[in-house]
This record gives sequence, C-alpha cells and structure tokens, in this order.
Amino acid sequence: MRAVWLKEFGGPRVLFAGDAPDPVPGVGQALVEVVFAGITFVETQFRASGQGPFAAELPMIPGNGVGGVVSAVGPGVDSEIVGMRVVTGTGGSGGYAQRVAVDAATLFEVPDGLGLDVAVALLADGRTATGLARAASIQPGERVLVEAAAGGVGGLLVQLAQAAGAEVIGVAGGARKVEHVLELGADFAVDYSEPEWAERIGAVDVVFDGVGGDVGAAAFGLLRSGGRMVMFGLASGTWTTIPDDVAEREVTVVRGIGSPALFREFTTSALADAAEGRLRPVIGQRFALEQAADAHAAIESRETVGKTLLEV
Ligand SMILES: NC(=O)c1ccc[n+]([C@@H]2O[C@H](COP(=O)([O-])OP(=O)(O)OC[C@H]3O[C@@H](n4cnc5c(N)ncnc54)[C@H](OP(=O)(O)O)[C@@H]3O)[C@@H](O)[C@H]2O)c1
Repeated sequence: MRAVWLKEFGGPRVLFAGDAPDPVPGVGQALVEVVFAGITFVETQFRASGQGPFAAELPMIPGNGVGGVVSAVGPGVDSEIVGMRVVTGTGGSGGYAQRVAVDAATLFEVPDGLGLDVAVALLADGRTATGLARAASIQPGERVLVEAAAGGVGGLLVQLAQAAGAEVIGVAGGARKVEHVLELGADFAVDYSEPEWAERIGAVDVVFDGVGGDVGAAAFGLLRSGGRMVMFGLASGTWTTIPDDVAEREVTVVRGIGSPALFREFTTSALADAAEGRLRPVIGQRFALEQAADAHAAIESRETVGKTLLEV
C-alpha cells in the first residue's frame, strides 16, 4: 500500500510518500480502507521535534485519525461489520496510509447522512471541543473567549459556546480569519496580531486557551471573578504562565477533558451533533495523501482555516 513515512524529525519535507506493508487484522481487529485521514496541529509539532503524545520510535507512519470502510476482520470480530463506514483513532501512528488495522472496539460507525469527510474532520477536534465545552460549564449569557477561533478545535468551540447561550468572542490572526470567525457565528471577533487587541474585548467568564504564550497571558488577564481558564494547547510554543494571584482572583484553571472512557462519549456526541446539523466542522483544505508534506507546511505557516484532510 501507499503511506507517508517519517524517518527523522524536522521540517515538513521530512514527510515522504512510499510503499509500506499491507496491515493484516489480528485477533479483535478490523481492517479499514482509508478514504480520509485528518491532520491535527499536534501532529505537526510531533513531526518537527518528536515531542507530544505519540510514540517517538522512527521510522513510523504518522497519523492518528482516519475514516473509511471496513474491508476485513480478524479472528473474534463479527464479519457483519465488513462494509460499514467508520471513523477511528489509530493509537497515534499509521493513519497517513491506504489501510489501517485497528482494534474493532475503537471503531465509530458514521451516522447515516453524515459525510465521511465531515466525520473525519470531527473525530479529534469534535471530541476535544465537546470535552472542553463541558469542562467549562458554560452558562447562558456568559462571555466566552476562544483563541485560534478559525482553527479546527477553535471553530467548533465557537459553535458549541453559541449553542450554550454564551456571547462568543473569537480571536485569531489576520483579517481573513477574523471574517471566518464571524461567519462561524461569533458575536465579536478580534485580530490578535494587532497591538493591544485584548483591550477591545472587556471582561470574560471563560477563556479557551489553545495558543498559550503571550496570547494566553493576555486572555487570562481578561477573566473576571468566577472565571474559568481552560488550557488545552500551546500552538505558540509555550504554555500560558498562570500568575500566582489566580486563587485571589477566584479564577479556576481547567486542564484536560477527562478519562479515555469519556472520550468515546464525546466523539459519539460530536458525530450526533453533526448528523443533526448542530455542529458544522469546516474542512478548509484537502490534500492528496502524497502531498502530506504540503499539508503540514500549510498548517504550520498558519495559512489554514478549519480542518485539513488528506484524501487517500
Ligand atoms: N485537535 C485536537 O483534537 C486537539 C487535542 C488536544 C489539544 N489540541 C490543541 O488545540 C490547539 C488547536 O489545535 P488544532 O488541531 O485545532 O489546530 P488549529 O487551531 O487548526 O491550528 C493551530 C492554530 O494556532 C494558531 N497559532 C497561534 N500561534 C501559532 C504559532 N506560533 N504557530 C502556529 N500556529 C499558531 C494559528 O491560528 P492563528 O493564525 O489564528 O493564530 C493556527 O492556525 C492546539 O494547541 C493543539 O495542540 C488539539
């Protein structure tokens, strides 16, 4: 089969397409013919440095979220699932490929009427955004600030916060992204590449902080008493530094979205929300599998909006 290999860490060009052995489903596994593979920002950070939540043994085929059709099953798995449209995580590697063999228990059937591309776009980002929105306990009328609001997770957080009845302020880099954030339904959008951007926002109750660094610090400064700082990423390269007076200010710092058991429920919830039209992931870019390096370059250079998919 064709796949994308990572043999050393570095810039996007370390990714290259080549041949790989066809996976064979073992006991309890299913073989999936991949149609779309999703790319997350974390995968670009891992490719660059080897840092992150994935196994770092090279060479490897990167890619953690795929969608396709079950074509075979291993011993102990009901063959009725052959032909089913599914999305699944791969456990951190193997996703940028024509086929993956995964534990059948990790499959999610794609609801009728939902495109496979949309389901792949939601697999990681939808689970994360759903878990974050619940962790924040957003109340109607609260003011919610979403960083990188034109991105994969950010765009979904804008929609989930709106649905919870919040006033949503999306912040993002550049005029094109600000426009996109407003189209997603944010009440207000600010370009944080401009100086003193935070002064245009006023006090907020919740910050969704996927950027960290100076952006996270400025957003933290806007939280009022009772506020929640929900930290889930460091796209800038550094986590937000939380000042020592956090308790005095009666601000809660929330990290993480719960246990793996909850992750499954968050994914199912996101897929159902999309099938019923409540959640709309934006697929901003599509690249052929062989162009995975271009896809990583686009994400890293902050050109992308919404989700980036590989078409396999
Ligand atoms: N996808 C998931 O399931 C998941 C899970 C756990 C954690 N996270 C975290 O959530 C955050 C968003 O992830 P995502 O996959 O949805 O990515 P994304 O938001 O689609 O892309 C990352 C965005 O971060 C912003 N950014 C700010 N400073 C940057 C910098 N120095 N270099 C590059 N980008 C920068 C850019 O938006 P602007 O140009 O608008 O600034 C960029 O588009 C990341 O921190 C990620 O680690 C994601």
